Amino acid sequence: MLTGRLVALRPMVATDLEFLADLTNAGPVRTHVVGWDWPVTVDAQREWLAQTHRDGRNRRLTVTDAATDEPIGMTGLWEIDWHNRSALSAVKLMPGRAPKGAGTDSIMLMMAWSFYEVGLRRLHSTILDFNAASLGAYVRRCGWRIEGRERQAVFRRGDWRDLLRVAILRSEFDELPDSAEYVERVCGAAHRSADAGAGVVRQLAEVTR
Ligand SMILES: CC(C)(COP(=O)(O)OP(=O)(O)OC[C@H]1O[C@@H](n2cnc3c(N)ncnc32)[C@H](O)[C@@H]1OP(=O)(O)O)[C@@H](O)C(=O)NCCC(=O)NCCS
Repeated sequence: MLTGRLVALRPMVATDLEFLADLTNAGPVRTHVVGWDWPVTVDAQREWLAQTHRDGRNRRLTVTDAATDEPIGMTGLWEIDWHNRSALSAVKLMPGRAPKGAGTDSIMLMMAWSFYEVGLRRLHSTILDFNAASLGAYVRRCGWRIEGRERQAVFRRGDWRDLLRVAILRSEFDELPDSAEYVERVCGAAHRSADAGAGVVRQLAEVTR
């Protein structure tokens, strides 16, 4: 269990399935996520969860409201590439259930976990050009950089939309003002890394002083 300021991240369990099916089928979520699929049923989700637990390349987590323990979304690592130490990461939250700031909190926790626990050094994703909330959370608040634009790559809302390729390196995460707090949330107060970036070492010194 990873606990942030507003949310917690934990492995998916069978009792999340109804919520996860609702999340996958929610209109505003389907409009904004990059992938497209047919609407899902809880029965199909059951089979999907069993496959998920056997799948070494992808690791999905349920996002819960830290105050109530209720599921409010999902996040995870996909296409984990151990040789190049990179993975795709994404998050989706149920509109109306997640408090403001939940997206930023989830992404900060995922980065601290990926870079300081899992051992990755690069996270990447794609964002539809009209997804202002995702650009606000990943790029403006969490330091991800836009690395490229795939023109008219995705059919959405009856139109062809550009897809932005975004990514962050561990060294860039280390320079974020709140990175030390999130590393401590994931690894505990005694955490020290021999090759941690200068920024995170400086911040940890301040946090533990
Ligand atoms: C994308 C998503 C995870 C962002 O989560 P969130 O909880 O709304 O994000 P935050 O509250 O942390 O907001 C981050 C920043 O974006 C801004 N923002 C949020 N929604 C916005 C919107 N609709 N339009 C413009 N800016 C927005 C916030 O104001 C905040 O900036 P600020 O701190 O300067 O005010 C969430 O909206 C979501 O799940 N959307 C549906 C699925 C999806 O698009 N997933 C991402 C696929 S790439």
